Amino acid sequence: MKKIQLALLAGGKSGEREVSLKGAEEVAKALDPRKYVVKRYDPATDLAKLATEADSLDAAFILLHGPFGEDGTVQGFLDLLSIPYQGSGVLGSAIAMDKNLSKILYRNAGLKVPQWYMASKEDIDNTGNILGQLGLPLVIKPARQGSSLGMTIARSEDDIAEGLKKAFGIDRQVMVEEFIAGREITGGVIGNEELTALPLVEIIPGDAYEFFDYEAKYQPGASKEICPADLEAAITIRAQNYALAAHRALQLWGYSRTDMIVSGDDIYLLETNTIPGMTPTSLLPQGAAAAGFDFPALLDRLIELALE
Ligand SMILES: Nc1ncnc2c1ncn2[C@@H]1O[C@H](COP(=O)(O)OP(=O)(O)O)[C@@H](O)[C@H]1O
Ligand SMILES: [Mg+2]
Repeated sequence: MKKIQLALLAGGKSGEREVSLKGAEEVAKALDPRKYVVKRYDPATDLAKLATEADSLDAAFILLHGPFGEDGTVQGFLDLLSIPYQGSGVLGSAIAMDKNLSKILYRNAGLKVPQWYMASKEDIDNTGNILGQLGLPLVIKPARQGSSLGMTIARSEDDIAEGLKKAFGIDRQVMVEEFIAGREITGGVIGNEELTALPLVEIIPGDAYEFFDYEAKYQPGASKEICPADLEAAITIRAQNYALAAHRALQLWGYSRTDMIVSGDDIYLLETNTIPGMTPTSLLPQGAAAAGFDFPALLDRLIELALE
């Protein structure tokens, strides 16, 4: 069998550069050398090289998170070069990167989302409006980021101004959401035309963490992750169906992972990741493992779906 010439794209210039590089090490290690010849490209420096070598490549594996990688820009570049890649295309990637657009589409699909408000810089000096609309606590986040970068849980009016400043330092679009108390879960989806919902993972950040922030996400042992999540069967099925519905609503392809909070009988959607974390212990790979795909098999499947 002829080996697949695979471009592994990692690094990039978003705040999640380090997360990307770490993931790429694991992916490169797990890819079967009998099936793939792996060539590494860092979009921060190697785009011209990638374009020059495009004709020799069969597929790309994009392991970039956040802006300039997960948001459709790199996907468009690869489309122009006729290199197939795993996961969503330009439109789906761009929509899912934008938490405001995503929530509008979730809501259109009948899915529940936390109440939200798109802030303007004027709100920094006049926090009363936000307070009146959403109450406390509330969550402030850049609309187009990942890994909880720039996020604040505001518990006082002063926190609101501080949180807005922090988020506006990262993105021109800042979202303020009602805080949903409950159990945090995430649901992976895999497939092209025919989609499969993976077993859910429950995330319990350690006591030292207020929420699933950057450190709670990446510091080994900082959070407890339970897969399959120990939820009632009815909630499990509903949450898996929400992950499928979210994937479809955002026009996604190949795979995705949707973050949700279960609060009483309600399930709220937070966001969908189009290039979820990719180490053997990351959340989507945990779900895949529970469904019988170990890490190398998951990578094979994603590349197979890319080449379909
Ligand atoms: N509305 C909310 N209520 C409660 N917790 C939230 C809310 N929004 C976000 N969080 C917490 O912040 C984390 C990151 O938020 P999320 O919207 O998933 O953005 P990111 O793209 O950074 O992962 C979540 O995993 C959750 O722990
Ligand atoms: Mg998230």
